[in-house]
Order: sequence, then C-alpha cells, then structure tokens
Amino acid sequence: MSIKELQKNIVRLKENNDVTILAHYYQDIEIQEIADYLGDSLGLSQIANRKTKTKYIIFAGVLFMAETASILNQDKHILVPEKEACCPLANFLNPNIVKEFRRAYPELPVVTYVNTTAAVKAESDVCCTSSNSVYIVKRIKEEFNVNEVLFGPDNNLAEYAEEKSGVKIIKIPGDGHCYVHSHLTLDKVKFTHNAHPNSKVLVHPECIQEVRDYADFIGSTAGMYNYVKKNYKNYKDFIIGTEKGLLDRLAADFPNNKFYLPSQNLICKDMKKNKLQTIEKILKLLDKNKSKKLVEYEVKVPEEIAQRALNPINKMLQYSK
Ligand code: 13P
Ligand code: SF4
Repeated sequence: MSIKELQKNIVRLKENNDVTILAHYYQDIEIQEIADYLGDSLGLSQIANRKTKTKYIIFAGVLFMAETASILNQDKHILVPEKEACCPLANFLNPNIVKEFRRAYPELPVVTYVNTTAAVKAESDVCCTSSNSVYIVKRIKEEFNVNEVLFGPDNNLAEYAEEKSGVKIIKIPGDGHCYVHSHLTLDKVKFTHNAHPNSKVLVHPECIQEVRDYADFIGSTAGMYNYVKKNYKNYKDFIIGTEKGLLDRLAADFPNNKFYLPSQNLICKDMKKNKLQTIEKILKLLDKNKSKKLVEYEVKVPEEIAQRALNPINKMLQYSK
C-alpha cells in the first residue's frame, strides 16, 4: 500500500471510530499530514484540554505528552503508536531529586518543564513549556513572593528563562539537557549561515547559550512556525535550529522559501519511532471492536499521581490563557 493510500485509510477509520489524532511538529511529515491537530507541546496540551470531544485520542509524540493528555482527560482513552517513544531529557529528573531540592529550599516553588514524567509533575508547583517558561517563572515568583525558583530538568531552558525573566533559577538537577538540541554547536550554525548569509537564524531554547545568542529568534516549535508565517514575504531563507520535523512542515507550507538544517543530527530518535502503519493498526483494532488489544497502546497515569499532577498542569494552562 502506498503512503497516500495508507493515509486515506487512516482518515476513513479515524472518522468512523470516534478518534482525534494529535501530532507534534517533530513527527514524520506523513504523520503530520493525517493529524487533526498539529502543534507544540503547549498547543497540544491546550487542545487535549479544551477541544477534543472524541472518546479516543491517538497521540503521535513522546510519552510525556500522552501522559499529560491522559491527566487532562481521565474519561478518555489516550493511545500511542509506540510506548517506547520517551523523551531522554525527562529521565534527568525523578521525584526523589525534586523532594531533595524541596528539603534544601523549602520556601521556593518548583517549576518543571512538561518534558518530565507524570510522577515528577505530581511533585511540582507549576509546569511550563518552551513557549511560556519566561512568563511562568515570573508569575510563580510573584505568587510565592520569593526571589528564586527551582527549575528542571533542562539546563538550557532554565538559563534562557532566567535571562529573559530576570528571575534567579536554581537548576534541578545541574546537568539536564536534550541530546538533540544541546549538540548543535555554534560552528555548525555559523557554517550554514555563511553558506546562506541572508537567512534568518531560528533556534529552540533547548539549544546552548552561544547558539541562542547568535540567533535572530528563539522560540518553541510553534513560535518558530509563527515567526516564518509572519516573515516569509520579507525573508526568503531560514535556518531552523530544531528537530527536522519542523523544517519538513515549513518546507511544505512555504514552498517559495528555503529552509536549512544546521546539523544532520537534529533528529529525535524517539519522536521518529511512531509509524503510520502502527496508527492504522490501532484504528483497525478499534474498528473491529478489539478493545482488549488496545491495552498495548493505551497510556493511563495511575489515578493518585494523575490527581496530583493535574494541579501544576492546570496552573500552567490558567497562566497561559
Ligand atoms: P516544544 O515545546 O517547542 O513543542 O518542544 C518540545 C520538545 O520536546 C523540544 O525538544
Ligand atoms: Fe525530548 Fe529532545 Fe526529543 Fe524534545 S527533541 S522530545 S526534548 S529528546
């Protein structure tokens, strides 16, 4: 079966079986094309919170995103094409580390990036994403009336949020990073920029400081997308300092512009574990009422953890309105 036929079949099965498909910008383009909603991590959690009416959600992203959707939708079934698709950055933090820092700094609020497990969120005061981290740390500092906040696990995002918000951040732990973004060096960005000197340089805040300092724009995946949408008539070329999936989306949506990846290593292996064929397999199980077999694909956060993790997620969503 060709990709186009597979996609057509997926769309038909999805519509007949009360399913919404959410996909992150880092998914393969053929998965992005069959999604009902495509977005960054904040946008997708807002959609999971307010817009999905179907009984089933297939979440094409990584596990923490599906867990967040499950926490926000306890009455729905959240299905993932690949349970092994996890975010390695999330593994830098566990509930014990958060508790240790809380003991050391009992008066300070804990801000955790959404790229964490549900168990870590359950120990947090508020969550944030790459698109709202600056605003969230300012708001929580005011709410707690303190001068510093605890923030984890991404060190680069922590430094970015501290720099832009003016709020002092204590990193929990000291070495959390995303292997995809933190390996992007300034030399690679400059090399690509020298080859395309008129291009605008867009990077994700998970990139290292010297790369961020060099960029024309720093933002989440949706932030970068919107930057291009606003500026594609003024500039022809863009260097995209994030996972390749976003570049594929931009190249498809803005065919008269040129997009360059500054490193061939900007591939998140976990995001790429999801396959169209598995999405079709899940939909076929639903279509044949084989709901027992769906267990293999369903993400369910234990109720006690989900209850506690809901507060910091809701606080983030309220703050991000
Ligand atoms: P966004 O918040 O930009 O979607 O990023 C999520 C992510 O995993 C970045 O690596
Ligand atoms: Fe995690 Fe990095 Fe992959 Fe994003 S790109 S999901 S932070 S490993």
